[in-house]
Amino acid sequence: MSKMIDPFWEAVSSFGVDQVFVLPEWIRKKVEEDQAAIPEGIPGKMALMKKNLAGCMKCDLGSTRKNIVFGEGNPEAGILVVGEGPGATEDETGRPFVGRSGKLLDKIFASIDLDREKLFIANIVKCRPPNNRTPSAGESETCSKFLKQQIEIMKPGIIIALGASAARILLETRTGIGLLRGEFHSYMDTPVLVTYHPAALLRSPALKRPVWEDMKKLKSFMDEAGLPREPGEK
Ligand code: URA
Repeated sequence: MSKMIDPFWEAVSSFGVDQVFVLPEWIRKKVEEDQAAIPEGIPGKMALMKKNLAGCMKCDLGSTRKNIVFGEGNPEAGILVVGEGPGATEDETGRPFVGRSGKLLDKIFASIDLDREKLFIANIVKCRPPNNRTPSAGESETCSKFLKQQIEIMKPGIIIALGASAARILLETRTGIGLLRGEFHSYMDTPVLVTYHPAALLRSPALKRPVWEDMKKLKSFMDEAGLPREPGEK
């Protein structure tokens, strides 16, 4: 008796495949649904990243934090502000720069017509270092990968680095903040303006003058670069 040759099987077996599993309908549907749920826009990508970070234990800060401080604001505006790490109020609320430094920062930005709807604020580390100590090199290295992922998603037109920790990680330098501030540097082709951290201003009010000079530079840069961006604008 001659054996019927199915042309499909003949083709498949020519690739060395001898078994094919057909996905049940409900699994196929689930895969399609999951793929449809992958967001396309910047806010969607950021939301997915935030969801994936939940419960992060990639460094020791995970075991002492109350909340991960992912960052907040408008990720489409093209202006990214980077601090060092959450303090007690930020850890408590899960929101960046909401303590004393944050209140001062809001005032500084208001002086050049910026508010949280026109920028996005994040930190080098997303969990509070105990007793507000400076994050270790290892913690900064591990966690700043997420900040770098956020930068890749947002593609900001300007990054404002607040203080030494932010400048050190983004610019890979150990040059002091006094020499770096007030100048435009670069992180992967994105301009980075370095200025003092607001906590330093709370300790040394004399630093308000140079920060004001830096804000004027920032304002001129934003006006020229068309920042903040409108929603959907590249
Ligand atoms: N200081 C920071 O560097 N980041 C915050 O979020 C709060 C205080």
